[in-house]
Amino acid sequence: MKASTLSFRAAVLIALAGMIWGIVMAISRDHSALPAHAHLNLLGWVSLFLFGIFYRLHPSLDLASSARIQVWIWIVGTLVLTVGVALVHSGNAIGDPIAGVGALTVLVDMALFGWLVFRQGQAGMAAK
Ligand code: HEM
Repeated sequence: MKASTLSFRAAVLIALAGMIWGIVMAISRDHSALPAHAHLNLLGWVSLFLFGIFYRLHPSLDLASSARIQVWIWIVGTLVLTVGVALVHSGNAIGDPIAGVGALTVLVDMALFGWLVFRQGQAGMAAK
């Protein structure tokens, strides 16, 4: 599967989950999960969709396994971070290290994405 297709599909599934979570928060009038909901939506929906657009604009990179791996790491990191943040804000200290692992995962993965972006830029310059 192309990296962009994986990004778009995962982004939409996460958006649905994040929106349902938002509706549950609103109906229950318990907004304590707000930070986890916000991270799930921003990392899972917005960021993944943006990755997808970038990959769709660079067809050769879109087919590369490095791009697919980058997207998968982001999906896993986002879910781990969200679970960790939700645990922290529901009073479970175990959430701290989990959120830490998730945060470092998405940080390293953003560096990987940055490397792909810069490498793509250089390849584009060389082609001109
Ligand atoms: C059906 C859709 C959604 C519902 C019902 C919903 C509901 C909520 C609720 C009840 C809060 C807590 C507000 C508060 O206590 O101040 C919240 C916060 C937040 N939501 Fe959503 N949400 C939805 C979709 C989204 C999406 C798609 C995003 C991001 C793209 C998003 C990002 C955020 C952020 C960043 C906050 C924190 C805002 C702040 O700190 O002031 N939400 N949402």
